[in-house]
Amino acid sequence: SNNSAKAQAHTNIALIKYWGKKDEQLIIPYTSSLSLTLDRFYTQTTVRFNSDNDRDSVQINGQFISGKAWQRVHDFLTIVRDLAGIHLAAEVSSTNFVPTAAGLASSASAFAALAAAASKAAGLKLSKTDLSRLARRGSGSACRSIFGGFVEWQRGTSDADSYAQPLSQVGLNDVKVIALTTESGPKPISSRQGMNRSVATSPYYPTWIKVAQHDLIDIKVAIAAGDFTKFGSISELNAMRMHALTLSADPDFTYFNSETLAIMNEVKRLRHAGIECYYTIDAGPNVKVIVQSANATKIADTFTKLLGQNRVTTLSAGPGVHYL
Ligand code: DP6
Repeated sequence: SNNSAKAQAHTNIALIKYWGKKDEQLIIPYTSSLSLTLDRFYTQTTVRFNSDNDRDSVQINGQFISGKAWQRVHDFLTIVRDLAGIHLAAEVSSTNFVPTAAGLASSASAFAALAAAASKAAGLKLSKTDLSRLARRGSGSACRSIFGGFVEWQRGTSDADSYAQPLSQVGLNDVKVIALTTESGPKPISSRQGMNRSVATSPYYPTWIKVAQHDLIDIKVAIAAGDFTKFGSISELNAMRMHALTLSADPDFTYFNSETLAIMNEVKRLRHAGIECYYTIDAGPNVKVIVQSANATKIADTFTKLLGQNRVTTLSAGPGVHYL
């Protein structure tokens, strides 16, 4: 029926990180960011607006959720209802497709799929730009998952001009990302809380705003020119600059565990041995290794020996959000 829609959105990995909000309510970031949408990790979400219910119901991987997680989805659905001028409760059913034992489910694919499914189910016909603006309201990184391949989220200054778009000049066509999962204890601090603390307390935050802007300009040149070495180096450097904002916060914190550090060392060892690879890390202990297609199997095998089979997944560029 036409009050129901199903969408699929893929996760993305940021090469130039988003870390800090200028406006927490509207999720306007301090800096622009750049990502690659990935093929094998994605979320499928069905939304139905139903006059029989008086409360939103939200199911993730077959389990009904409640509390803070439910509230975040409910608040997002209310943004959609306000846009569409409807007052119906929604039934949301979402499934994350992530390889076994990964712990790599992401709010980016979740809110990109939810934005697409909910807006269509509510009768809205949004452009990709407006869909990106809407997804941003659920989770900042979700605005980038509307598009496939290399994507830039231009920070903008307001709700109207803060959205993502695909890069127009791409000369880099054989990048692969090897996702490595570490022993994941509970997240010490969510990305949302972590970035807020960095903004509020790291003395280096003002410098991050300047440096991230240059990293973004430089990586776009490298992507346009197909310069993998420059692309990988800038990605790794920018990730470490982001993590410096956790170590320099008060109270300080880190997303690294001992396995994270071991993997970082292994990447550097491989590089010194002439096998080119770089790492990037988000708000958790898992590492993503950036490689070229020709080296992907060899490097993945090295990490399989270190970590075991089901903790290594090789990913390619993936598509933008689409309806099912
Ligand atoms: C380290 O998009 O999860 O992955 O906007 O508060 O939902 P909220 O944050 P979120 O933060 C992502 C942080 C990051 C870097 C990135 O994806 O750019």
